[in-house]
Amino acid sequence: MHKDPSKKYQPFQHAPKLTDRQWPSRTLTHAPRWCSVDLRDGNQALAVPMNVSQKLELFQTLVKIGFKEIEVGFPSASNTEFTFNRRLIEEKRAPDDVWLQVLVQAREDLIERTVESLIGAKKVIIHMYNSTSPAQRRVVFGKSKDEIKAIAVNGAQMIKDRLHRLKGTEIMLQYSPESFSMTEVEYAKEISEAVMDVWQPTPEHKMILNLPDTVEVAMPNVYADQIEWICKNIKNRDALIISLHTHNDRCTGVAATELGLLAGADRVEGTLFGNGERTGNLDIVTVALNLYMHGIDPKLDFSNLASIIDVYERSTGMTVPPRQPYAGELVFTAFSGSHQDAIKKGLAEWEHQKREHWDVPYLTIDPADIGREYREVIRVNSQSGKGGVAYLLESEFGIELPKDMQREFGPIANDAVDKLGREVSGAELKAMFWKEYVERVSPWALKSFETESKNGVVKCHAKFLRDGKAVDFKGEGNGPLAALVHGLTTAGIPRFEIANYSEHALSSGETAAAIAYIQIKSADGKSRWGAGVDTNIELASVKAVLSALNRL
Ligand code: KIV
Ligand code: ZN
Repeated sequence: MHKDPSKKYQPFQHAPKLTDRQWPSRTLTHAPRWCSVDLRDGNQALAVPMNVSQKLELFQTLVKIGFKEIEVGFPSASNTEFTFNRRLIEEKRAPDDVWLQVLVQAREDLIERTVESLIGAKKVIIHMYNSTSPAQRRVVFGKSKDEIKAIAVNGAQMIKDRLHRLKGTEIMLQYSPESFSMTEVEYAKEISEAVMDVWQPTPEHKMILNLPDTVEVAMPNVYADQIEWICKNIKNRDALIISLHTHNDRCTGVAATELGLLAGADRVEGTLFGNGERTGNLDIVTVALNLYMHGIDPKLDFSNLASIIDVYERSTGMTVPPRQPYAGELVFTAFSGSHQDAIKKGLAEWEHQKREHWDVPYLTIDPADIGREYREVIRVNSQSGKGGVAYLLESEFGIELPKDMQREFGPIANDAVDKLGREVSGAELKAMFWKEYVERVSPWALKSFETESKNGVVKCHAKFLRDGKAVDFKGEGNGPLAALVHGLTTAGIPRFEIANYSEHALSSGETAAAIAYIQIKSADGKSRWGAGVDTNIELASVKAVLSALNRL
């Protein structure tokens, strides 16, 4: 890298001079019109572009999500693209309220073929573009501003001249000054107005003016200024649908779109999970769910995000990164103990206190709304607190550790995880718990335990093993556990008392078994927890006492 980057790079040159900007004090209140460009911009950026059947499957998914405008391809670019268009139209795959959008450059042969690909369609958007930035004018075309404008005007005329061939088709026209955000706003306005002069949009029959952030080269506030400048200065604003099309080179494609909407845009183009050239297109899922988390209906349905990811990954060959907003595998995972604890409390409050609005720490939305489950993905590492450990045992196995026992087992689990040097799954955590408590059968182990009750007095006859040797004793008390404690003390065990007791049935997997948790306190003040599992609740309690004794 350069020690002095200013010798090679310069600040952004095309920020408009915007006085009295309005967008910073606005908020978003409704969803924009959405247009998916997955099948065109997303597809053109794939190492192996989608074949027709993959495109059909993704198209169907986009329709199901609720997209009403879908850029289906660049039909003049290849036979696959052309055939795809024809199949969509001839097999009537697009619902009546869905617009099929196609992209074309301002060239006669390409426009001719594009129009041919659309014959018989119900609703189409013909999207013409040409590059307008100083670098493109200079390097790619070697043409002046007027010559570049002539390309756009001629292309617009060629399209207009052919519209009569699409009888019975509802048509909308769209123009993109490609590289808009790197273009002088005055020139972008001039060339767009020249196209408008040809197409003659009206408030009743608008055209779409798409203003691409083809390569993101400035901060998102600059893009917002550019959009507001155009909205304020372009003629016949009310005859236009202003559309945003951002890419993500500086990782602010979402921010640029959101600020662009504040600045007055009506429509957003993007792709699922941001697939697209280089660092990608705008991720529409994120913008839509950002609206949703503020209580705004995004008019797109991501209730089953997992199945959408499935189709997306299968058809594009791309993967959704684990930290992708909303969609990533780890988005609803909390690793830190304090986060886990707060989430657990927040979810409990949400479930039991019926608050009006979602306000759970660390979870921006309820994962269930998009078909996700917080409890599926939580894992425990050495930093997880007792709350996270307890939550995992309870949510995955229905093991409800008493609060005080959580305090005892939390650090034990953390130590074990620390030694492993990695995070552990719920099953591994349960195995640790079983090893520490339920499988503690030395020195004391149960052989048999029988009770009989008469006049409120319970007598027990216990057969235990102590270090493998049989021990047989009797005891009595006002219940089985009191009889056991009494019997054990007569067998020479130093006096102890039962300080805490709880039990519950275990959920599936441990058919009809119960688990008992018991805390004992010895005369010298030491206390230990024990746990026992058995199909007989009395035996589960006895095992829990022995487990605690074995840990004393
Ligand atoms: O990024 C871009 O500028 C485009 C245009 C063709 C709209 O994809
Ligand atoms: Zn693009």
